[in-house]
Amino acid sequence: MARSALLQVMTQAATKAGRVLARDFGEVQHLQVSMKGPADFVSSADRKAEEVVFKELSRVRPDWGFLMEERGAIEGRDPQHRWIVDPLDGTTNFLHGLPMFSVSIALERDGEIVAAVVFNPAMDEMYTAEKGGGAYLNDRRIRVASRKTLPEALFGTGIPFLGMGDHAGFLYELRQIMGETAGVRRYGAASLDLAFVAAGRLDGFWERALNPWDIAAGVLLIKEAGGIVTGLEGESFDHIRGDIACGNEFIHKALIGQLKQASTKRRAARRAGESRETGE
Ligand code: IPD
Ligand code: CA
Ligand code: CA
Ligand code: CA
Repeated sequence: MARSALLQVMTQAATKAGRVLARDFGEVQHLQVSMKGPADFVSSADRKAEEVVFKELSRVRPDWGFLMEERGAIEGRDPQHRWIVDPLDGTTNFLHGLPMFSVSIALERDGEIVAAVVFNPAMDEMYTAEKGGGAYLNDRRIRVASRKTLPEALFGTGIPFLGMGDHAGFLYELRQIMGETAGVRRYGAASLDLAFVAAGRLDGFWERALNPWDIAAGVLLIKEAGGIVTGLEGESFDHIRGDIACGNEFIHKALIGQLKQASTKRRAARRAGESRETGE
């Protein structure tokens, strides 16, 4: 597979940032760690990796803007192009010595993602995609899994944690889906979850309240691998909205159905609780 010049720039930036992360991995005692909110960590490794990506990309395209997790939005002179970057996706894993983290870089052109790179330095896995050109893992073409039914399907999700809303709603979804499928995994780095769906390692995935930098690259990987990505009710999806459901066409449809059943059960339980309280 011949990578375009731009994709090469992106993989080079991800490789360099990944090297920086790999050096700091397992050295948590030497890192500066702070909290942006409850259970929301940021470390000197996140910032260093972001700096590397920023420098690499702006050296090659000085006029393009950025949306980065730690620095936020940086407007460029060219209104058409923007890089969307998560320099370290899976910070909590990283700080715990779990080798499940990545550098995620997406290129947005006129509001649409046209190129994507997700790199896991600990596994030396580089996922790439360009719009219309297919998705790749270390230069080998990848496709979403072909399983069609829930009992054979393995799902990924993101379990809400301290400081995140609606733990109760998630439990309804989990109970519904774990009772119908071959299993549910929680890896802790959304960009990799999506890359795993693209590579057919996971059949489907759902999570709420993600940010554009968590998903922008992964969404293109899945689409280019032949998968479907929508909101949690099956509605059309861009890489900005944070609630996401994906899989091949069969698994995606089944997942949306399961999520619907979970919310119906939850509403029924609420109504039953309310009528118990009012004595109706
Ligand atoms: C987090 C990871 C995680 C997801 C969180 C994200 P970060 O990103 O992607 O899987 O569940 O919602 O914030 O903060 O490690 O880059
Ligand atoms: Ca973070
Ligand atoms: Ca992230
Ligand atoms: Ca991050």
